[in-house]
Amino acid sequence: MANYRRRRWRDANTVRLDLNGCLAGAVGADGLAADDVAALEPALVRVREDLAARRAAGALAFADLPYQREDLKRVIEVADAVRDEFETLVVLGIGGSALGARALQAALAEEGKGVRLHVVDAIDPDAFGALLERLDVRRTVFNVISKSGETAETMAQFLIVRDRLLRELGAVDYKSHLIVTTDPARGALRQIVHDEGFRDLPVPGGVGGRFSVLTPVGLFPAAAAGIDVEELLAGAAHMDERGKGAASALAHPSLALAGVLWALATRRAKSVVVMMAYCERLATAGDWFAQLWAESLGKAVALDGRTVEWGQTPVRALGAADQHSQLQLYVEGPRDKVVVFLRVENHGAGLDIPATYQDLESVGYLGGHELGELLNAEQRATELALVKRGRPSAVLTLPAVNAFTLGQVLYLLETATVAAGGLAGIDPFGQPGVEEGKRLTYGLMGRPGFEAFRTEVEAWLARKDARFVL
Ligand code: PA5
Repeated sequence: MANYRRRRWRDANTVRLDLNGCLAGAVGADGLAADDVAALEPALVRVREDLAARRAAGALAFADLPYQREDLKRVIEVADAVRDEFETLVVLGIGGSALGARALQAALAEEGKGVRLHVVDAIDPDAFGALLERLDVRRTVFNVISKSGETAETMAQFLIVRDRLLRELGAVDYKSHLIVTTDPARGALRQIVHDEGFRDLPVPGGVGGRFSVLTPVGLFPAAAAGIDVEELLAGAAHMDERGKGAASALAHPSLALAGVLWALATRRAKSVVVMMAYCERLATAGDWFAQLWAESLGKAVALDGRTVEWGQTPVRALGAADQHSQLQLYVEGPRDKVVVFLRVENHGAGLDIPATYQDLESVGYLGGHELGELLNAEQRATELALVKRGRPSAVLTLPAVNAFTLGQVLYLLETATVAAGGLAGIDPFGQPGVEEGKRLTYGLMGRPGFEAFRTEVEAWLARKDARFVL
């Protein structure tokens, strides 16, 4: 029986959220008084009810992903085949079509358990060209991921790769080296799948890129790399069940986190949220979170039509390295930040620090400890250093890094993002602000119908004052 089916194991692997460092009792005026927190309950209850109603109506597709069966079956089937057929899997995608897979890979992939995975969101010709040079395409399969099926970066990568495969493998064999993950019904990539007959996987309707890590977008590369995706989904379901079973909205981890971060942003001017992982394997989850929080919550217009220009800027940091880089700013700089620590209780295979130079007090004290102990001591020390300077922080503690705990973290943060959107009165699912840049790029690249955008760029360049180009 899988570990996560045992209640005791699940209890021992439950992720905990500690909000003490956000309270005025800890950090003074920059924190929230216990009454301020309690006063969040009615707004959070409204958000909770709204999310439950949307979910019941089938309008919150990401929330039900932990319980999917059909797509999971297909993911496992294709991943098993790929592990038999290939050594390397290259994901071609960008934004939400890349960051989830990369976070899963960084946290959970182990050498030798599956294919070697590269998640490539680069269209820098040097970086992409160098990767293609290194690859043995006969042993490589490419997973083209794009929900819209027309993202310029991904489609350009696809065209280059397809051309190379065709040249090197011929018109029959090249097809088995491409697997396409896209909308089940719409888009140019879906059309191409129909026409050319590539293996394909669906991005379920109603799930946008940055909420798609638990769809085939994230699950397939993870499964091919040997990650236990069923355990990952079980972790997400565990967090969902905890939320559903919470006696109050403030006892619901996602809602509580959303409420506190929103209140700190709106009432204590904490416009920046730093996700600081004290575990290298989780640092990439910080990149995934940064996209989720930024693209979902950074919105000009509220649902009621008011201009709000709301959002909270996410920053990713890594402990302990960034204690020697960014921490000075967090402790003494502008009081505009709240830090969310990712802490891991058990770092697994220990690395003992030898008890050498015992006669030198400033070095000898390290001997006899494990390296993970030092890392965790540094996390606690940083947390308290911030508290002592009145800088708020929260701690998400993972008992260990495994698929079950990561599934909980991903689901908690996705739900918190949507809940924060609810509190701010904005739609967390669109990204209208990035569309303009896309249209201008299409214009510059000669896409029919976008000629006017090219003219606009040219006019902007012509308007530039040469005195300020140095
Ligand atoms: O979160 C999002 O919706 C975006 O970041 C998309 O994932 C990104 O723009 C890539 O889009 P697509 O999957 O359509 O290629």
